Amino acid sequence: MSETALRNTDIDAALNEAKEAYVTRNPKSLARYVEATAVMPGGNTRTVLHYAPFPIAMARAEGCRLWDVDGVEYVDFLGEYTAGIYGHSHPTIRAALDGALDKGINFGASNMTEARFAKAVCERFGLDRVRFTNSGTEANLLAISLGLIFTKRKKVLVFDGGYHGAVFGFAGGGSPINAPFDYVLAPYNDMDATRALIAQHAADLGVIILEAMMGSGGCIQADPAFLTMLREEATRIGAVLIFDEVMTSRLSPGGLQALRGVKPDLTTLGKYIGGGMSFGAFGGRADMLDMFDPRRADALPHAGTFNNNVLTMNAGLVGLTEIYTPEAAKALNARGDALRERLNALCRAADAKLQFTGLGSMIAVHTVRGPVRTPADAARGDQKLKELFFFDMLARGIWLARRGMMTLCLPIGDAECDKLATAVQDFLETRRSLLSGA
Ligand SMILES: Cc1ncc(COP(=O)(O)O)c(C=O)c1O
Repeated sequence: MSETALRNTDIDAALNEAKEAYVTRNPKSLARYVEATAVMPGGNTRTVLHYAPFPIAMARAEGCRLWDVDGVEYVDFLGEYTAGIYGHSHPTIRAALDGALDKGINFGASNMTEARFAKAVCERFGLDRVRFTNSGTEANLLAISLGLIFTKRKKVLVFDGGYHGAVFGFAGGGSPINAPFDYVLAPYNDMDATRALIAQHAADLGVIILEAMMGSGGCIQADPAFLTMLREEATRIGAVLIFDEVMTSRLSPGGLQALRGVKPDLTTLGKYIGGGMSFGAFGGRADMLDMFDPRRADALPHAGTFNNNVLTMNAGLVGLTEIYTPEAAKALNARGDALRERLNALCRAADAKLQFTGLGSMIAVHTVRGPVRTPADAARGDQKLKELFFFDMLARGIWLARRGMMTLCLPIGDAECDKLATAVQDFLETRRSLLSGA
């Protein structure tokens, strides 16, 4: 057998063993899962949370800690896929929610908080106007539709491997459930090919949408020059540039766009900005957003029963203005940068086929050597090794996404970062033979 074939057999054996131990440790999660499959397809209502042999169910959480239904404690390094920045029991968020509940849920009317929250969001992210939705998916649906109506064009440039919500998945090209827009699929970080596609479709291209760092796609940063090129090209051909900052808005006080100094026409937001409640928003240029002004005879409609729900409005407002202040954003991202560098130093010292990409408080693991600049680079990694990393981290009390994504929440401190570094070092030592090679 070749060295690679031998290593693959060893990875399979290690993975089987890790999964067997997982099954033994999690009997109540298994029972919950089996019960759920009777009424939910595959026991699931959120695809990303499923993994084989069955997903862990959590019972409760506090600060940056979670306890599963079998009583095992984890440090929460997932942070609800960036939505959980405040941790699980921030007293200020709790007080805002209690205060809102005391006054009655959902009035079927405008309330006194929504405009204050809108002002905070606009000031923070450099938007002229903003509208609220219930999810990031909805925010992108509305922003793309607005861009196409504004430009009177049909095509939307998206990037292979990108993700903009439930009906905007472009891993491997696209998904059958995607919203039926006329997409042009471009390669992320490929200047020449993307420029050529923009030139080819210039007359019909109404929208260019991307994340300045792919989040779900593996925490892969766009080159600053790539973003500048897209800004220039969008302006040149009269297309609307949308930055999906649903995840990345946390990466600096003004989002990743402020860090890169590139201003899109529209920005979409979501996740933590609702204070942990359901949330989405799209905003940007007044001349575009004002197409929704209901005082206009030709106003575009934008409905949504829960667009201004009082829980989101109140939790979001205190979150952004009192907790995740610009100073807090800088500190959290500095912590993330230091942690990622520490983990990468461990990988380099072990000469392991393992690395951590990302920026600030967003981190993703890849089982590949060399730069990860595109989803294709990431896909070259050994997926079974990545699965093993996931199960080994769970066994060491680290909660993370099955795909290897981690994000920092505010309650994470030095002790939690030490715990993760120790877990990674353990992985590097115990799995050394599997992590060698090209
Ligand atoms: C970049 C990006 N855009 C949009 C969305 C969709 O947000 P939501 O899950 O709130 O619909 C996500 C969710 O993960 C995301 O990562």
